[in-house]
Amino acid sequence: MALSISFTDIFTSFIPYLVTVMAWWSFLVLVCVVLVVSQKNHFVFGEPQVPCYFVFGDSLSDVGNNNDLLTTAKSNYAPYGIDYPEGPTGRFGNGRILVDIIAELLGFEKSPPPYAYTRGVDILKGVNYASGGAGILNETGRHMGDEIPMDEQLQNHKKIVTKIVKQFGNDKSLAANYLAKCIYTVTIGSNDYLNNYFLPQFYPTSREYTPDQFATLLFQRYSQQLQQLYDQGARKVGVFGLGLLGCTILVKEWYGIEGDLSCAENVTYAVSLFNERLESLVYNDDLVGAKFTYINFAGIGLTGFSALTGFTVLSTSCCTVRATDGACIPNENPCDNRGDYVFWDAVHTTEAANAIYATRAYSALLPTDAYPYDLQYLATLDSSIESFQDQLKASLSSD
Ligand SMILES: *[C@@H]1O[C@H](CO)[C@@H](O)[C@H](O)[C@H]1NC(C)=O
Ligand SMILES: *[C@@H]1O[C@H](CO)[C@@H](O)[C@H](O)[C@H]1NC(C)=O
Repeated sequence: MALSISFTDIFTSFIPYLVTVMAWWSFLVLVCVVLVVSQKNHFVFGEPQVPCYFVFGDSLSDVGNNNDLLTTAKSNYAPYGIDYPEGPTGRFGNGRILVDIIAELLGFEKSPPPYAYTRGVDILKGVNYASGGAGILNETGRHMGDEIPMDEQLQNHKKIVTKIVKQFGNDKSLAANYLAKCIYTVTIGSNDYLNNYFLPQFYPTSREYTPDQFATLLFQRYSQQLQQLYDQGARKVGVFGLGLLGCTILVKEWYGIEGDLSCAENVTYAVSLFNERLESLVYNDDLVGAKFTYINFAGIGLTGFSALTGFTVLSTSCCTVRATDGACIPNENPCDNRGDYVFWDAVHTTEAANAIYATRAYSALLPTDAYPYDLQYLATLDSSIESFQDQLKASLSSD
């Protein structure tokens, strides 16, 4: 079935975006100085602001869950991890990734360990379930091999929650109270576009659904998944919107798009339809006592990177990449001036860029960065646990 949207429609719908973009760019001059100054004081450890941090998502959040899977969506080889103390760990970047920096900002000494390697007592402070290539849909990313889709990440979390309830001596009230205090973040959906909808050679979805229908499908599934997370005791959830996927080097290579400011508009448009729906989700009143907040990844991306914030290379990757999937070619030397680059490989950002994303998700620079709350504020919220404890107790897995 042909897409029912003409280029005129796409262009017209972009005008508000363009205006917003221009407004943001002019505002940038004011804010970048503040950002550079305020960033300096962030990376210090203290008592964590919340007792635990659970991470769900895709390669933006994966810290090694794919290492033992049969897939090409892996990054546990050089030059990945060149700036990470432990070297290549399965993080899709040169150094710390988004969730590592968020964990630091929340005051944790360690990023939550990958579910694949976590054993015993280290689960109380949180676990990372994220998997490179994974999506909201089970089928997403399968052309690369195995991965852990969102549904399965939630099943894994359920097993961890059962263990945590045991560690609380099977006292479900205590466990519920504890789990409600944790921060949960989810970065998922990018692969449903990059490794599904926009890969018609492997997946039929772009022939079966218009961008609007596909966004609705994803949103419905995602809503159910977040409901499950809630049923497992999550009350403080940071939901990351999708980034500027049409501006990734990989996508621009696919379509032969050149220039720092040019992006694949059909990709950006399709993704914006999903983001719009997701934004509305945070005001969902059905999930009593829960605080969901939307992190505007695309907005931070639009305003975060320029020479003013220290980025001079906006659309070239730092490592030499494979044409097939944009991952770094093993053992090739990457660029030296990694702090100047936004992109590490053709899809994933550098540690320097991740610091911008994480810092602004944690402590919003613009009101549009995170709403209704940034993660720092989310951490301080009392999610009215007492009154909803019984309900929460009842919903916790009763193995
Ligand atoms: C996705 O896969 C999981 C098993 O890993 C299954 O439980 C779930 O029902 C599947 N979801 C759909 C919509 O088929
Ligand atoms: C997106 O646009 C590119 C051209 O820029 C085109 O080649 C591609 O087929 C489009 N994809 C879809 C799913 O519409």
